[in-house]
Amino acid sequence: MRHQVSAPHSLLPTVSPGSEHMWHPMTAPGGHSLQAPLLIASADGIHVTDTSGKTYIDGSAGMWNVNVGHNRPEIKAAIAAQMDRISYCSTFGSMATEPAIALSTRLAQLMQVEDMTRFMFSTGGSDAVETAFKLARQYWLLEGQARKSKIISLRNGYHGLHWAGTAASGSPVWKAAYEPGIPGFLQVEGPYPYRNPWTSDPQQLGEICAGILEREIVHQGPDSVAAFIAEPVQGAGGLIVPPDNYWPLVRAVCDRHNVLLIADEVITGFGRTGSLFGSRHWGVKPDLMCLAKGINSGYVPMGATAVSRRVAQAWEREHPMATIMHGYTGSGHPLACAAALANLDIVIDEDLPLNAATQGAHLLERLQAVQDKCALVGDVRGAGLMVCVEFVKDKASKQPHPPGDPFLRAFMQQCMQRGLLVRMQANKLYLSPPLIITRSAVDHIADVVHEAITSAMAHAATAHVSTAQPR
Ligand SMILES: Cc1ncc(COP(=O)(O)O)c(C=O)c1O
Repeated sequence: MRHQVSAPHSLLPTVSPGSEHMWHPMTAPGGHSLQAPLLIASADGIHVTDTSGKTYIDGSAGMWNVNVGHNRPEIKAAIAAQMDRISYCSTFGSMATEPAIALSTRLAQLMQVEDMTRFMFSTGGSDAVETAFKLARQYWLLEGQARKSKIISLRNGYHGLHWAGTAASGSPVWKAAYEPGIPGFLQVEGPYPYRNPWTSDPQQLGEICAGILEREIVHQGPDSVAAFIAEPVQGAGGLIVPPDNYWPLVRAVCDRHNVLLIADEVITGFGRTGSLFGSRHWGVKPDLMCLAKGINSGYVPMGATAVSRRVAQAWEREHPMATIMHGYTGSGHPLACAAALANLDIVIDEDLPLNAATQGAHLLERLQAVQDKCALVGDVRGAGLMVCVEFVKDKASKQPHPPGDPFLRAFMQQCMQRGLLVRMQANKLYLSPPLIITRSAVDHIADVVHEAITSAMAHAATAHVSTAQPR
């Protein structure tokens, strides 16, 4: 099963010297070895520049993470100043550095609404998820309910690629080469307003899907289920925005059955959806939250798992199993923490959640106008600066394009030619530019997407005619 998440490389047909030694994540090395990677040499603000000097708008903010933009002097200065003091110190046992302590205090202050009081630092989103699962199981052990170990997630969910994250992620494409996975991980159907077999009424869909989760918990036995994990807005699994009632209903289901609610906020955290946190967008307080990406905008790898007061209290009692037998060499890395502190100042001082809400709404509106004009745009959806254009061969049947379809390939190439770097997954275009983006840049993105669709349709029609010709 071949699955290439994003392939801007396809514009460049030759192998660059040395590139045969590097394997790229989520990319088939055989196919990729025929293409040279797009080499990015520098970046500033919302732009990146390749080694030939061509500049692009970074339409995906790196990997949904460079929220404050590239090359921010404040973050570079904070990292350099920290490097002058100390560039590494472990946080195992009772050691730490000032930025690690300061960051935990800052996060507790920013997450008062969610009542998050303890933070375990790590080196990325997959680590943050892994940590959350281990803490959820240990929590129930400490509460005297060791049987509560199962983790339920959504079929379109994505929770990183560690062993447990892969088990919790929904798509078989991510798991197939590595099965069998970990027992005790189950997936249920989540609300996908554009594609579901039940209803076009969002509220009803939210109720149906919350009901499906509840039935699964009851079926498994609530005394065996540790946690339910989901993304407040699903990212890699299709950029799916749930109906407004879904998260509040899910919170109620978890409460009824004594199941922890883990919000995987690796993408949605720190403003991307237009609220500081995605769960805040739905007015819901999770028990554990997974953070990464926007925590320091990717300047240094970092993740964090936030623990609510209610859950954290389990570790405050004397118990022989209360030691947290988990952590990483890079947990609380001083450079990552220094970058995060400077990054969070920017997020708050520049009110980037508000900018994400404002610019995201404008982008959505502009692209919905494109949808009305283009036969191949089936759905346009989003929350803040997480926006998806779902292409279809036919609006009535919603039939998606097959992988490798000439239209999809041509569309991506047309975007690149016009200086817009985008991320495509199968028939979906994901737009998630840095949260500092201006209205004029949003207008430019919408114009480019429209032009690229029009050109790609013409290109695909020609390709279709030429492949249909007898030799
Ligand atoms: C929701 C979610 N969880 C976890 C991860 C894994 O994060 P990382 O790639 O930093 O390990 C991602 C990555 O995109 C993600 O989107």
